[in-house]
Amino acid sequence: MGRPSPIRPHLLLVLLLGVLRSDAGTVRTELVTPDFAASYLLFIDTLGVFLRSSSGAFEAAVHGPAGQQDRYYLAVLHAPSGTCVWAANRAAPITDRAAPFRLSSAGVSAEDANGTVVWSTPPFASPVAALRLADSGNLALLDGQNGTLWQSFDRPTDSLVSSQRLPAGGFLASAVSASDLAEGDYSLNVTAADAVLTWMGSSLYWRLSNDAISIKDREGTVAYMAVNGTGLYLLAADDTVIVQATMPPAGLRIVQLGVDGKLQISSFASANSSSSPMDGGIVAPSRGCALPLSCGALGLCTPDGNASICTCPPPFPTAHDDGCAPSVGSTLLPDGYCGGRSATSYLSLGSGIAYYANKFSPPAMAGSNASSCQALCSSNCSCLGYLYDSSSLSCYLAQHQLASFINTNASNGAGMSGYIKVQSSPRSSSDSSSSNKTLIAILLPTIIAFLLVVVVGAFVIASRRRKDEQRVGRRASRSRDVQLRRQRSPGSASAHLVRDLDNDDDGDDDIVIPGLPTRFTHDEIEAMTNSYRTKIGAGGFGAVYKGELPDGSLVAVKKIEGVGTQGKREFMTEIAVIGNIHHVNLVRLRGFCTEGHRRLLVYEYMNRGSLDRPLFRPAGPLLEWKERVDIAIGAARGLAYLHFGCNQRIIHCDVKPENILLADGGQVKIADFGLAKFLTPEQSGLFTTMRGTRGYLAPEWLTNTAITDRTDVYGFGMVLLELVHGRKNRSEHVSDGGGEDSNSSNGTAGGSSRGGRNDYFPLVALEGHEGGRYAELADPRLEGRVVGKEVERMVKVALCCLHEDPHTRPSMAVVAGMLEGTMELGEPRAQALGFLRLYGRGFAGPSEGNVMKQAMVGDRTRSETTMTTMSGWPSYMSSSQLSGAR
Ligand SMILES: *[C@@H]1O[C@H](CO)[C@@H](O)[C@H](O)[C@H]1NC(C)=O
Ligand SMILES: *[C@@H]1O[C@H](CO)[C@@H](O)[C@H](O)[C@H]1NC(C)=O
Ligand SMILES: *[C@@H]1O[C@H](CO)[C@@H](O)[C@H](O)[C@H]1NC(C)=O
Ligand SMILES: *[C@@H]1O[C@H](CO)[C@@H](O)[C@H](O)[C@H]1NC(C)=O
Ligand SMILES: *[C@@H]1O[C@H](CO)[C@@H](O)[C@H](O)[C@H]1NC(C)=O
Ligand SMILES: *[C@@H]1O[C@H](CO)[C@@H](O)[C@H](O)[C@H]1NC(C)=O
Ligand SMILES: *[C@@H]1O[C@H](CO)[C@@H](O)[C@H](O)[C@H]1NC(C)=O
Ligand SMILES: *[C@@H]1O[C@H](CO)[C@@H](O)[C@H](O)[C@H]1NC(C)=O
Ligand SMILES: *[C@@H]1O[C@H](CO)[C@@H](O)[C@H](O)[C@H]1NC(C)=O
Repeated sequence: MGRPSPIRPHLLLVLLLGVLRSDAGTVRTELVTPDFAASYLLFIDTLGVFLRSSSGAFEAAVHGPAGQQDRYYLAVLHAPSGTCVWAANRAAPITDRAAPFRLSSAGVSAEDANGTVVWSTPPFASPVAALRLADSGNLALLDGQNGTLWQSFDRPTDSLVSSQRLPAGGFLASAVSASDLAEGDYSLNVTAADAVLTWMGSSLYWRLSNDAISIKDREGTVAYMAVNGTGLYLLAADDTVIVQATMPPAGLRIVQLGVDGKLQISSFASANSSSSPMDGGIVAPSRGCALPLSCGALGLCTPDGNASICTCPPPFPTAHDDGCAPSVGSTLLPDGYCGGRSATSYLSLGSGIAYYANKFSPPAMAGSNASSCQALCSSNCSCLGYLYDSSSLSCYLAQHQLASFINTNASNGAGMSGYIKVQSSPRSSSDSSSSNKTLIAILLPTIIAFLLVVVVGAFVIASRRRKDEQRVGRRASRSRDVQLRRQRSPGSASAHLVRDLDNDDDGDDDIVIPGLPTRFTHDEIEAMTNSYRTKIGAGGFGAVYKGELPDGSLVAVKKIEGVGTQGKREFMTEIAVIGNIHHVNLVRLRGFCTEGHRRLLVYEYMNRGSLDRPLFRPAGPLLEWKERVDIAIGAARGLAYLHFGCNQRIIHCDVKPENILLADGGQVKIADFGLAKFLTPEQSGLFTTMRGTRGYLAPEWLTNTAITDRTDVYGFGMVLLELVHGRKNRSEHVSDGGGEDSNSSNGTAGGSSRGGRNDYFPLVALEGHEGGRYAELADPRLEGRVVGKEVERMVKVALCCLHEDPHTRPSMAVVAGMLEGTMELGEPRAQALGFLRLYGRGFAGPSEGNVMKQAMVGDRTRSETTMTTMSGWPSYMSSSQLSGAR
């Protein structure tokens, strides 16, 4: 056994700091042409941006607002400020960061993860020639003559930018929240006379012509609202100004209706700057209590300069997040309630009250007295309350939804009396004593049952604790730590591979970790595997057995051996992470078992086994070309998901055919991800440093370069070449002195017939690429049943994946896109692949160690220690269980 001295003790740190570099989809300028696809994943390095206007002021992006990962929109952003000024599919977000927006000659469409089209442009008479993002921020579909078929400026969402016009009858609708762009409750409507803000579709709370910022120039019918460098305008059809709100000169203005119902006008010195000139921005309505919900439903808003103070009026003392609520004993009547009138009554809010809508709507009844006002409300199902002004004898109804009330005592004092419709509860009536009895009759058994549960529960927990203390006797729980680790953002996710050095096992059975998959007892495992009868594989972690769940579904049970001091809690934390990863190209974890030192993982069963079997030693039919392409795409998608799709970035570290599983129906799934933590400390030290299998190990394992997702890309490139070629990249007979993969289930592959020649296929592929002879590279057993273009594509993608500098390798998402044909195919760089010649030569003959060493000495970037390790590496790897192929 070679000295297992850790090659890079600081690798863990490096891993943490390892930063993803951009190499994903290139951002286009101004135009994209069909066929094109963009998903957040494909453009993750630019946070979804795939198109820039020529000045760079605006960007088109697959946008996940507020950093969340559940809703993605095709959006136009003002680049310097990051303001989202338009969204295509606001009502139908894409829920998967890998799901694409597609541009085809038929238009733009958005697909969700399962392929359902959730949004698309309408059909057009002529085919789409391009999607263009103008410097104005307008995103348009053009036909062959540059005619506009469709444009975002015609379909505003919540914003208007300079040079965009909102016609009368049109509106801006607020978003529900900063992260959900669906239409909210507020809108800015342009009417024939004015621009108004409305709440819940009908209640006005602001008029442009009433606001101090505006001047009415003349009477006339409004045709448009427009904003530009000098202000906000309502224009007639002949472009003459009807109402204007002039503002200091600016290069760009954006009018946006916020989620809170405020209209915000931001100014920028120029379209592509984020600095704003003097005015700094205007907000309407500017006064604190003018918004319908300035203090939430039923709150009382008291103006205080430009700000406001919120309190709860006496009849609604209970403050909660979105307003105030009545005290126990009465219920607000819901909108549309028309039931027995005898049950309705009114709670008085007192006098000195106004309602946001009073200012803009005429009274429901004028010249009335207080009782007729109440009668009007009682007779109207949609009336939720009324306000009566005794000085003007006016009666106002509050409808649809109750908002905040305004305290007018502080300002002019001319207030109204307010009343809210309520339904009195039975408790306030005379039969209260009988209802109390009913209450006791219901409550008493419940309380007794509850106490019983508590006592029994406490007993069980106490007895378990005692048992565990005897067994382990270590420190207390660290559930907070677990929680924190579960909530890591993608940015810090490479921390996933980092072990907690503080490795104590609290061994609790009562560990509560959210998201754990099914936990099986060892008896259940024995039952499902028929006492480990059918062994279907063996790998670095231990044997794999076939099993069957009680529901009849087949499973593969992986016995993890040598777990050493691995804490149960840590094990389960990892399980919860792995168990929550669901992707069609990732093997699903169905459950687990942890009892004493036993650690077992129960996976879904993949009936065709791992890719190495049909590829390297086909007992059955040969893998046809089409299947190989599908396997390549499926595996690429699975890895891309591991890297970018989950909350924690997971680097597989051991990408090889043995870890790509197949099942009927063309299923392709990546196996064995996220297991790096289940090893003893000394194992894990090695393992994290050199986790992969020889032949698929990227050069950075041997240098001081960080291990990132691009390390998996290298392994995947090797797998691609093997898929093309149908053999191991390095023939087995070329001895490295230790029988690599001796414990592997795949045994030896063919290739001995080629002994003595250069057998390192990646080098052969590089030479084939340089000579443009791709067809020769394909598996001879296919006898030409291949698609020439696809062989070329696969070889080129593979070579790009093998680039020596990890940063110049494409991301897995881009690899998947290139294989699917939705991303532009990259060109391999010969100078980035020169090391393959060394590898090829170095490993081809018995003097490999020397050749490698000399090569490395020539390279100053590699240190003395690295070289020592280098010469010891092949024998170490071959004799180590850790290289274990499964
Ligand atoms: C802003 O856009 C103008 C053209 O509209 C361009 O000349 C200028 O270089 C841009 N400035 C920046 C900082 O991008
Ligand atoms: C696709 O998923 C969405 C939810 O994400 C669901 O509403 C829809 O029915 C699914 N469509 C198909 C064809 O499965
Ligand atoms: C369309 O516009 C682009 C630039 O905006 C120009 O290069 C192209 O020639 C135009 N095509 C036609 C048919 O006018
Ligand atoms: C404003 O526009 C919204 C959205 O279409 C509409 O529901 C509402 O009735 C309009 N309100 C007015 C006053 O025009
Ligand atoms: C903005 O629009 C108004 C009304 O059309 C016009 O009078 C004014 O000159 C425009 N300002 C700029 C900077 O274009
Ligand atoms: C209120 O706002 C106006 C303009 O928005 C400003 O001029 C004034 O100083 C503000 N008053 C207070 C008390 O903040
Ligand atoms: C306003 O003042 C009147 C008379 O002082 C008082 O009865 C009423 O409760 C006050 N209203 C509010 C909302 O404070
Ligand atoms: C209120 O007005 C109605 C008619 O509008 C009238 O029948 C009723 O007597 C009046 N009540 C009082 C108390 O004046
Ligand atoms: C209730 O009042 C509103 C406005 O005051 C009115 O539009 C509606 O028709 C009334 N409903 C009934 C049932 O009277």
